[in-house]
Amino acid sequence: MKKESIEVLFTADEISRNLDTLARQIENDYLGQELVMVSVLTGSMMFVSDLARKIDNNKVDVRIDIISASSYGLGTESGDRVNINLDTREHLKGRNVMVVEDIVDTGKTLNFITYLLKYHQPSSVKICALLNKPSRRDPALKDLKIDYLAFPSIEDYFVVGYGLDCAQKYRNLPYVGILSFEE
Ligand code: IMP
Ligand code: MG
Repeated sequence: MKKESIEVLFTADEISRNLDTLARQIENDYLGQELVMVSVLTGSMMFVSDLARKIDNNKVDVRIDIISASSYGLGTESGDRVNINLDTREHLKGRNVMVVEDIVDTGKTLNFITYLLKYHQPSSVKICALLNKPSRRDPALKDLKIDYLAFPSIEDYFVVGYGLDCAQKYRNLPYVGILSFEE
């Protein structure tokens, strides 16, 4: 039986501090404007709820919408297909949209979601991610631009916590940790 172990990569305090920085950057860039934050479920739940609460409503008129996509099966390997399980409800035409994702891995999920959202003719679409694993990027998506990133890029670890899961487990950890399997 393989035993799972988790080593802390980013503590809850570090996450909170980096989200403060990101929130100030967003307030600055969208000052006096409206912003629809589209949370990619389920992984970005903690991220979007903490980040949105750090943005001052007197500076940016924040709205929250959700979309659900899955490119993963039950384990740790990315699948080739992206399924949309739940679509956005807000009227996005002519509005500023920010896709909020937990982690960019191959980039396929985000690429597909931004492609879909552009169909609604928003005035802008930006990408915001908690984490980035560029070494895993699909070669066809090597130019994918992440506009707002909470942490510097990480190595090819499998990470869990703060919304990120392994077969739906560990999302509720308050920190981000590296998951490994021991014999
Ligand atoms: P992509 O389409 O390959 O970029 O996959 C992105 C999605 O895969 C993310 O939204 C996560 O849900 C999941 N994912 C990728 N890497 C990890 C990881 O290290 N831990 C947990 N989930 C991950
Ligand atoms: Mg996800």
